[in-house]
Amino acid sequence: MKLALAAVIALLTLESVQAQNIPYPADNRAVTYIASVGIGSPPTYYDLIIDTGSSNTWIGANKAYVRTSTSQKTADSVSENNIRVEYGSGSFDGAEYIDKVTLASNLVLSEQSIGVASTSKGFNDVDGILGLGPTNLTLGTLSPDTNSAVPTVVDNLFAQRTIGADVFGVSFEPITNSSGTQVNGEISFGGTDSSKFTGNITYTPITTTSPASDYWGIDASLTYGSDAILSTTAGIVDSGTTLLLLATDAFNKFQSATGGVHDEATGLLSLNSTQFDNMKSLFVNINGVPFELTPNALIWPRILNTAIGGTAGNIYLIVRDNGANRGSGLDFILGQVFMERFYTVFDNGNKQVGFATTTFTTATTN
Ligand SMILES: *[C@@H]1O[C@H](CO)[C@@H](O)[C@H](O)[C@H]1NC(C)=O
Ligand SMILES: *[C@@H]1O[C@H](CO)[C@@H](O)[C@H](O)[C@H]1NC(C)=O
Ligand SMILES: *[C@@H]1O[C@H](CO)[C@@H](O)[C@H](O)[C@H]1NC(C)=O
Ligand SMILES: *[C@@H]1O[C@H](CO)[C@@H](O)[C@H](O)[C@H]1NC(C)=O
Repeated sequence: MKLALAAVIALLTLESVQAQNIPYPADNRAVTYIASVGIGSPPTYYDLIIDTGSSNTWIGANKAYVRTSTSQKTADSVSENNIRVEYGSGSFDGAEYIDKVTLASNLVLSEQSIGVASTSKGFNDVDGILGLGPTNLTLGTLSPDTNSAVPTVVDNLFAQRTIGADVFGVSFEPITNSSGTQVNGEISFGGTDSSKFTGNITYTPITTTSPASDYWGIDASLTYGSDAILSTTAGIVDSGTTLLLLATDAFNKFQSATGGVHDEATGLLSLNSTQFDNMKSLFVNINGVPFELTPNALIWPRILNTAIGGTAGNIYLIVRDNGANRGSGLDFILGQVFMERFYTVFDNGNKQVGFATTTFTTATTN
């Protein structure tokens, strides 16, 4: 009896060691979050966009690939179109390699499949992408192996048992540095970091509605003040999209409710101070729980207006038009600005996404 109990305790201890989350820093660059990722041995470090909306990890958009003895070219070429990034979309094509990838000293992948771009479009001042979306989004990106999926870094960390659960949590925070760069984010691989959120995590299953179901897609409805502006529908959680995007009909309701005027310079809606004072909260209702974006959370950080082509002191809204009416199967995108207000958990093992409030949810930072 005693022995059996000891064995159970040993097993539980082993389990909890493996399930421990491994924190990894993320740099807020205002319109993207960047990870510094080492490739090769000795590693060369590349600035990669932390993207939960695509799943291929690749380099070569800016800094050239430094090949070392660990770099192995595969027989495949790789390409991806319409990667949602910053305000618009990007693409790349090149060759697929296997190489050693170092995220941190305790997060090392000796054989990770990576793309090396020979051409890319839509990427400024970054070297590529750290793809944290679901594995199946990589289907069709390789050629001639079009039916092969490319295991992501999370898949491989889990497969080699560096992490004990196929899950990662993301903590983003609003930027407060007018230089437009601040290391204030954290990915926790293999679990959640309870120091980064308050209250409970609300989980919701991956939606069954396509194409959102191919991504970290969820069902939600949106309410502005007490007015429904988008009834329950599917959308995605995408750290590679800067803003909060809504189906055109919902966006139009939001625009008329706020009185926002389209601003040519930034492409965003702008408000005057009276309109801002009258703003209400926008609620994203997920699995019965309202996640509140306060008026402060709905505006672009004013210290960074000029960084996006705007005028200092103006008030710009972070809600944009997704370009299609409700019913496309992808009717909203909860991008970086949403994730800066709520802790987010991407749980591949249980096919669910979780959300929790943080000390920044209602903070007045913008
Ligand atoms: C991924 O795609 C394969 C091939 O189409 C399919 O069999 C599998 O069920 C998919 N997995 C998920 C998690 O959707
Ligand atoms: C703000 O940005 C400057 C310039 O990049 C940097 O030196 C400083 O450390 C940053 N401060 C914080 C709090 O991140
Ligand atoms: C968290 O969930 C538990 C169990 O459902 C509940 O008892 C508790 O009140 C919740 N706490 C908060 C802060 O919502
Ligand atoms: C703000 O805009 C509204 C709507 O155009 C207008 O009625 C109001 O006078 C403006 N307020 C200021 C302070 O400009």
